[in-house]
Amino acid sequence: MIECRTISKKFGAFEALSNVSFRVPSKTCYGFLGQNGAGKTTVLRMLVGLLRPDQGEIYVAGHSLLTEREQVQRLCGYLPQRPEFYPWLSGEEFLRLSAELVGVPARQAKNAAGKYLATVGLTEFARRRVGKYSGGMQQRLGLAAALIGDPPVLLLDEPVSALDPQGRDEMFSLLRILKQEKTIFLSSHILHDIEQMCDGVVIIHKGQIKAQGTLPELLKQSGESAVGAQVHFEVDSRLLHQLQAEFSGAMQGIGIPVSKVAWQEQGLEQFFYKVVSQAEEEQRQHQNPSTGRGGAKDGNMAR
Ligand SMILES: Nc1ncnc2c1ncn2[C@@H]1O[C@H](COP(=O)(O)OP(=O)(O)O)[C@@H](O)[C@H]1O
Ligand SMILES: [Mg+2]
Repeated sequence: MIECRTISKKFGAFEALSNVSFRVPSKTCYGFLGQNGAGKTTVLRMLVGLLRPDQGEIYVAGHSLLTEREQVQRLCGYLPQRPEFYPWLSGEEFLRLSAELVGVPARQAKNAAGKYLATVGLTEFARRRVGKYSGGMQQRLGLAAALIGDPPVLLLDEPVSALDPQGRDEMFSLLRILKQEKTIFLSSHILHDIEQMCDGVVIIHKGQIKAQGTLPELLKQSGESAVGAQVHFEVDSRLLHQLQAEFSGAMQGIGIPVSKVAWQEQGLEQFFYKVVSQAEEEQRQHQNPSTGRGGAKDGNMAR
């Protein structure tokens, strides 16, 4: 679906990209991994025609970016690393403008804006000025703008790195739904999220592609077999000693020596989520004590 062939790019004497070639298959979600300065934003900007390669070719759904630029741009929705907004526009006005810019007829732009505000959970903030949106809300509005022409390809530059843990979770839940029908290529350096979310990865290092493929393929290629296991369950802390002895005994009984048992206490992340969701539930009950629900119409996406 997305194909880069031998792309190179220099900024002055600095070679930012060198012979970059990779493919992202149709209707998959691929992560684009690399350290800061590796060249991710440069590649993504090239894919949407904002930057020209010095050399090489780019194809999206078989169309060449060089010769069929407009067609390629219509196929791709793009979320920049730092989306910029006119702060005086409301979320709805911004999306209507975005819709018209990608060729949605004016009379359908209002509907499209409403539809994608709902998709990203911003319906109840439709009339609020974008300048008053939180960072997470702006990021979701940026995603709505990328979605507005219903493009089959989404190119997302660090869609979660500016978000708090809850915002990240919400963004990934949304992307999990979107990846059922779109090809998604997203850059990030948060490996845990990429591993949970993506079918494959492309790894770039100092302007050169170092690995690409599906996650099972790549991890198998790396030649390591399973080196351990993680088993998660909850147990009363008073039973830990007894359980440890019985667990190690049972494993040895089937010929697997246990080198280490690490009991994990509740992590900060779970604790943080618990506190925040409790506070939100209390606020909902406070706003609407009769039903114990109410307030946010878009459920947990609206903050
Ligand atoms: N317009 C530009 N002019 C000069 N150097 C640039 C420009 N854009 C990017 N670079 C350089 O190219 C390299 C790759 O940048 P970038 O694609 O933004 O990396 P990433 O998104 O992976 O952090 C960096 O060293 C960056 O400083
Ligand atoms: Mg970048």
